[in-house]
Amino acid sequence: MKYGFLFHTKEAAIKGNLKEKFAKIAAAASSQIKRVKSLIEARKSLLAIDLGSYAVKIALLSPTKTGFMLRSWGYLPLENKPEESPEEKKLGVLNALRAFLIQSGIKNKYAAASVSGNSMIVRYVKFPLLTKSELSATIATEAEPFIPFDVNDVQFGFHILEETVEEGQKKMETVLVAAKKEIVSSRVEILQGAGLNPSIIDVDSFALENLFTQFDTSAAEPGGTLYLNIGHSVTNLSIIDKGNTRVVRDIFTAGQTFTRAIMKALNCELTQAESLKRSHALLFDADQKDAAIAEGRKEDVAISDALMGVLKDLTVEVHRSVDFFLSQGSDRVISRIVLMGGSAALKNLDRYLSLEFKNPVSVLNPLAAIENSQSIPKEMTPAFAVAIGLALRKPNDWV
Ligand SMILES: Nc1ncnc2c1ncn2[C@@H]1O[C@H](COP(=O)(O)OP(=O)(O)OP(=O)(O)O)[C@@H](O)[C@H]1O
Ligand SMILES: [Mg+2]
Repeated sequence: MKYGFLFHTKEAAIKGNLKEKFAKIAAAASSQIKRVKSLIEARKSLLAIDLGSYAVKIALLSPTKTGFMLRSWGYLPLENKPEESPEEKKLGVLNALRAFLIQSGIKNKYAAASVSGNSMIVRYVKFPLLTKSELSATIATEAEPFIPFDVNDVQFGFHILEETVEEGQKKMETVLVAAKKEIVSSRVEILQGAGLNPSIIDVDSFALENLFTQFDTSAAEPGGTLYLNIGHSVTNLSIIDKGNTRVVRDIFTAGQTFTRAIMKALNCELTQAESLKRSHALLFDADQKDAAIAEGRKEDVAISDALMGVLKDLTVEVHRSVDFFLSQGSDRVISRIVLMGGSAALKNLDRYLSLEFKNPVSVLNPLAAIENSQSIPKEMTPAFAVAIGLALRKPNDWV
C-alpha cells in the first residue's frame, strides 16, 4: 500500500534520488562497484521504529536476492509508571532509543515511525475531481467537513484511489488522514532527539496493511480478512477484501484495559496484574469455568471473569465494524481473522474469537518470511507487525 505517510523530509527524498542515480551508474560500471551499490542500498533502508505505549519495537531490514533479511532489531520495554507525565514518558522513550542506538552501533540515519489513536483519523471520502496538486492546495477546505478536529491543528495526508460518479458528478475516492500536528511533531522530535533523520511518519494501520499485502498469503484467498493488532492502549482493526481496505478503525480497548481489570478485581499492583494476565487463560465456556470452580481455583476464575468483561466490550466494537462491512454488499463475507500485537498472546483468545465470529483465527508471524530473524524470541514476534510494515516501506512509497 503506497499511502498513509503524513510527513516526509524533502532532504531524504533528494538524497534518496541522488543515491539511486549513483547506484545505477555504479552498477553499470563494473561488478566491483556493485559492492558500493549494495552498501548504498543498505544505507537507504529505513530504520523502522514502532513507538508503542508498552514497548518500542525496532527493525532494520535489507533486501536480499529472494526477499529480506533482518539486520538489526530492538525490543525496548517502557516503564509505564501510572504517575508519569507525557514529558517524562517521552524522555523515557528517548533515553531507551539513544541507548539502543549506541549499543547496536547503527549508522543508518533515516528512520520511519507511525501514529495511531485518538489524535488522528482515517476517512475514505469522495472529493470533487481534482489533480493531486490541486487537492494538496485545497486539502484543508475540502477535508474540513470530514474531520472532528480544527483544520489548523492537523497535518493532512491523502491518496487518491479511483474515479467514481456520484449523482451524475465525477468524484474521486480518496483516503484521507488527518493527524494532530502535536502527535506528528512529537514523533519527529523523538527521532531527531535520538540523532535520526525522520523520513516517514506513517499510520499504524497503513504500515500493517503494507505488511499484509506483501507477506500475508491468506489475503489472496476469497473472502474478507479481519485483522486485529491488539497492543497496549489501542487495537487497530482493518478489514481487507480482495486487496481493498474496507474498514480501518482504532478501538481503545487493549492490553492495558485487561491489566487494569485484573488490578481492580484482585486489588493488586500493576506488575502483579501484568504477570497474572500472562499466566492465566480465559475460561470462556461453561464447562471450563465449572471445572475451575469445582476444583476451588478461585483466582483463576476471578482473573478470567475480569478478562472476559473487557473482551466482551472489545467484541461488541469488533462486531460493529464487521456488521458495517457486511452491510455494504450482499457478496461480502468475513472468511478469516488474523491477530497480532502483544495482546494476541492472551491465552485462549484465539479460540474465543473463533467461536464468537465463526471463523478460523490465526496469529500472524510478521517475521516468517524474513531471513536471519530467529534471534527475535518467538513470544515477541506478533508485536513486531507494525515495525516490519514500516521497515518494508520503500523510498518511492511516498511519491
Ligand atoms: N503473553 C502475554 N499475554 C497477554 N498479554 C501480553 C503477553 N505479552 C504481552 N502482552 C501484552 O501486550 C501489550 C503490548 O503489546 P504491543 O507491544 O503490541 O503494544 P504497543 O505497541 O506498545 O502499544 P500501543 O500500540 O497500543 O501503544 C501489553 O499490554 C502486554 O501486557
Ligand atoms: Mg502498537
